[in-house]
Amino acid sequence: MYSCLLIQTENNICTITINRPDKLNALNKTVIEELGSAIDEVINNTDIRSAIITGSGAKAFVAGADISEFASLDASGGKALAQKGQDLVFSKIETSPKPIIAAVNGFALGGGCELAMSCHFRIAADNAKFGQPEVNLGLIPGYGGTQRLVQLIGKGRAMELLMTGNMIDATTALQYGLVNHVVSQEELLTKAKSILELINSKAPLAVAGCIKAANAVFDESKNGYAVEINSFGELFDTADAKEGAAAFVEKRKANFSGK
Ligand code: COA
Repeated sequence: MYSCLLIQTENNICTITINRPDKLNALNKTVIEELGSAIDEVINNTDIRSAIITGSGAKAFVAGADISEFASLDASGGKALAQKGQDLVFSKIETSPKPIIAAVNGFALGGGCELAMSCHFRIAADNAKFGQPEVNLGLIPGYGGTQRLVQLIGKGRAMELLMTGNMIDATTALQYGLVNHVVSQEELLTKAKSILELINSKAPLAVAGCIKAANAVFDESKNGYAVEINSFGELFDTADAKEGAAAFVEKRKANFSGK
């Protein structure tokens, strides 16, 4: 069904692998369109509870937007490219009510770093390298990198990475808070899956509420505290909140239905 993605769903966890290893999984037009469809599938398929995005091969997660597609672009083409990518993929991942995490297996540069940052959180293999090298091409990030890098690692560190185009290794990314865990390359997917299995055992609507409220911090059109109050209140009307409280009182494991 996809020419540039491999999709595997197991235990309600969908693993999306970007599969252009000969081009270090660079994000060309097809990858962006296919990622958009795959994220729609994650959100809409009731058999899927959460997802992992990773890259094919041992070298790269994603080495950026496909630079070979830049040659023909002018100002309006550049804006359209950024807008389409943000709408189809990056914003959709960020606002997905189901958790989507990045398992970063090597270079995460430019659009690759931006893709990882649009995910709800990131796990890195010890060979991961992060950077926004667009300045080397006379450009800036266009898939939300200037915004999410500041959100995740703070303005000073983000400014330095953006303006120098320097890469940081996995240990530095961990120290900066860009990634939550660094593991060996062999352990990367196992670690990502074990965290998602734990999240999948929780009430799905509560998990979705966490994502929505935490995202509201960075949405100027919303008052995050009001979003939290509203979601907190609405969850009391769910069967899962009743099941959670009943299970606690009855000293048993909750059996959540997602309703
Ligand atoms: N777009 C298109 N093709 C890319 C790419 C990108 N962002 N990144 C890597 N590739 C391709 C290379 O052109 C090469 O293809 P070829 O074998 O047909 O020549 C292949 O992937 C392997 O890359 P190569 O540069 O030979 O590997 P390397 O180990 O020497 O260097 C990097 C790895 C990641 C340091 C280097 O590929 C690089 O700097 N990539 C661009 C990163 C970037 O600027 N990203 C932001 C884009 S906005």
